Amino acid sequence: MPRILSSTPLFLDQAERITSAGHDLRTPSGDEPLTRAELLDQLPEAEGLLCLLSDRIDEEVLRAGTSLKVVANIAVGYENVDVGTARGLGITVTNTPDVLTEATADQAFALLLAVARRVPEADRAVREGRFPPWRLEQDLLGADVSGKTLGIIGMGRIGAAVARRGHHGFGMRVLYASRTRREEIEQELGAEFVPLDRLLRESDYVSLHVPGTPEMHHLIDADALAMMKPTAYLINVARGPVVDEGALADALEAGTIAGAGLDVFEEEPSVHPKLLKLTERVVLAPHLGSATRDTRHAMVRLAVDNVLAVLAGRPPLTPVN
Ligand code: DGY
Repeated sequence: MPRILSSTPLFLDQAERITSAGHDLRTPSGDEPLTRAELLDQLPEAEGLLCLLSDRIDEEVLRAGTSLKVVANIAVGYENVDVGTARGLGITVTNTPDVLTEATADQAFALLLAVARRVPEADRAVREGRFPPWRLEQDLLGADVSGKTLGIIGMGRIGAAVARRGHHGFGMRVLYASRTRREEIEQELGAEFVPLDRLLRESDYVSLHVPGTPEMHHLIDADALAMMKPTAYLINVARGPVVDEGALADALEAGTIAGAGLDVFEEEPSVHPKLLKLTERVVLAPHLGSATRDTRHAMVRLAVDNVLAVLAGRPPLTPVN
């Protein structure tokens, strides 16, 4: 019976799909994902692997999977998988695009609104008995969102979903910088394709949606931050290393940008200590882009579809190599 290993406990209905297709499913015995040592230990028997973004599927792991035919990453990003080595070993790698687009775009907008209107600070003030008195220039004044300029860096699926929210929901003007020009998005949203420096100079909200590839490392560095308006906000639900976190903390501290909403960090689960110290105009979330019940179910369903397809000799639905 072909064995499928999941590094993480699976939803029951998806586990049943695997076993009723005639596979021997192995999952962690408790609630926690497998450790690397456990993964290496159990892999030699497995033909299929379901894994998380937090599993480092490098050459050592791939070579330990001597019977491995497919690695199904339960995430749209796959920088945790050594795709080149997998290709060389004849192992298919798949990801979970589309099913998490709307949830991740919601998270970008949740952070954008939260930081603009200072929601976490307001919540703390109320709980701590610091209800601000009515004044024109009162504490916790925020920034407008409606009608402002939204700069999207990376107009892929998630970038476009954020742009739609901005344009249709908040009447925002959309600028975008991207590897590929998206004329259909320009027509749909009146979005303007601009060079990155112009986007940084003109946007009130800059939202990052590029992949975590080495070329994107520190795309937003001290120089890029210096181009932003002092009233502008940076939103990152893409990948932590796209932003130089130390430079961002310095810019926030110096007030050269107005604020940031961050869902991802350079060294997750660690967060730059300077960022942690900033309690105003900075909203931090622990990589929750896809973390809704329905979306996580859809991601696992797609990952299972991919594993079952490859092991049945069919093409995978969403291959990356
Ligand atoms: C992904 O799927 O790559 C996301 O970052 C997970 O939330």
